[in-house]
Amino acid sequence: MIDKQLMQFFTDDHREADQCWATLEEAVNGGDQPAIRAAFDTYKSRMLRHFSMEEEVLFPAFEAKTGMSQGGPTAVMRMEHEQMRGMLEQMSTAMESGDAQEVIDLGDTQLMLVQQHNQKEETILYTMAQRMLDGDWPELSAKLESYLD
Ligand SMILES: [Fe+2]
Repeated sequence: MIDKQLMQFFTDDHREADQCWATLEEAVNGGDQPAIRAAFDTYKSRMLRHFSMEEEVLFPAFEAKTGMSQGGPTAVMRMEHEQMRGMLEQMSTAMESGDAQEVIDLGDTQLMLVQQHNQKEETILYTMAQRMLDGDWPELSAKLESYLD
């Protein structure tokens, strides 16, 4: 049961993904390979899960309600998700070759993309979505629940 409003739910999910990144950085500093691998897998899956919840549940509802799809804010967000997915793939490749430092270096670029993206979502998109989708939230949050562990 998700007992948060829309904006809180997605904003908290951003913060939790940030926390997963911090855990990965600590693991890399610690140098323990299994711990690094586990932290990377967690970070990557949390990011991908967040994108899926938005692209499959939030954005379609927003687009249907506002009539804004192509050229609208969700189109920009989808494009930025693709950029970040590309970064995650590059980071995966670096992980595969055992180059944890490269993962952290790529992470600097990734973090910049994530911060700019999250700020746009949190200040604009989520605010609009919460207002416009208030009545739909019980149904949407029920769908989102199936993505959570
Ligand atoms: Fe997001």
